[in-house]
Amino acid sequence: MIPLIRRGRPGEELAVSRLLAETWHDTHDAELGVEAVSAVTAKWHAPALLRAQIEDPSRCFLVAEDGKGALVGHALSWLGEDGCLNLLRLYVLPRAQGQGLGSRLFDTAMAAWPDARRFRLEVRPDNRRAILFYESRGFRIVQANGAEAGFTDVPALAMERSRP
Ligand SMILES: CC(C)(COP(=O)(O)OP(=O)(O)OC[C@H]1O[C@@H](n2cnc3c(N)ncnc32)[C@H](O)[C@@H]1OP(=O)(O)O)[C@@H](O)C(=O)NCCC(=O)NCCS
Repeated sequence: MIPLIRRGRPGEELAVSRLLAETWHDTHDAELGVEAVSAVTAKWHAPALLRAQIEDPSRCFLVAEDGKGALVGHALSWLGEDGCLNLLRLYVLPRAQGQGLGSRLFDTAMAAWPDARRFRLEVRPDNRRAILFYESRGFRIVQANGAEAGFTDVPALAMERSRP
């Protein structure tokens, strides 16, 4: 069954936190190490933080739910005062990757902000698959160290594109 994409609900923060931890370990352990990834994901994906993001009406907190009620994907975005949409997260559980869900989550997040004039995100430089994913959707690298953008405290590439 094709996963359903919808807004996250209060009470789902623990499931999203686990989804993010599993996906982060799968994606980044080889480069960053298990301990470093555990530390980052415990800080950034703490259930209380995710709960606040779910309840924040200025953010679009999306989840993808499979046919058995399990959460298998998540995206978080918001519109900055400069009219630039910030895509903070786009994550699909390893077992659900490569089946079009990341593309659907991406499209849904973009469509949630019809007033956005630009799109911006950050990605780790070694995350080749994600960089290719974004490049094939029109994003280009605009900044080698995204730490200045304030989204992350590990090295990142900032990527942007205009609305076509
Ligand atoms: C990046 C990510 C969101 C893509 O989601 P997905 O559900 O796997 O993507 P899709 O199935 O929609 O496929 C999208 C593209 O990846 C390609 N792809 C699918 N499986 C692939 C694989 N195993 N290896 C390389 N490319 C693959 C598809 O051919 C498709 O190509 P296109 O961009 O030319 O259309 C997902 O891989 C993911 O969650 N990665 C880990 C977390 C991450 O890195 N997030 C981004 C951080 S900024």
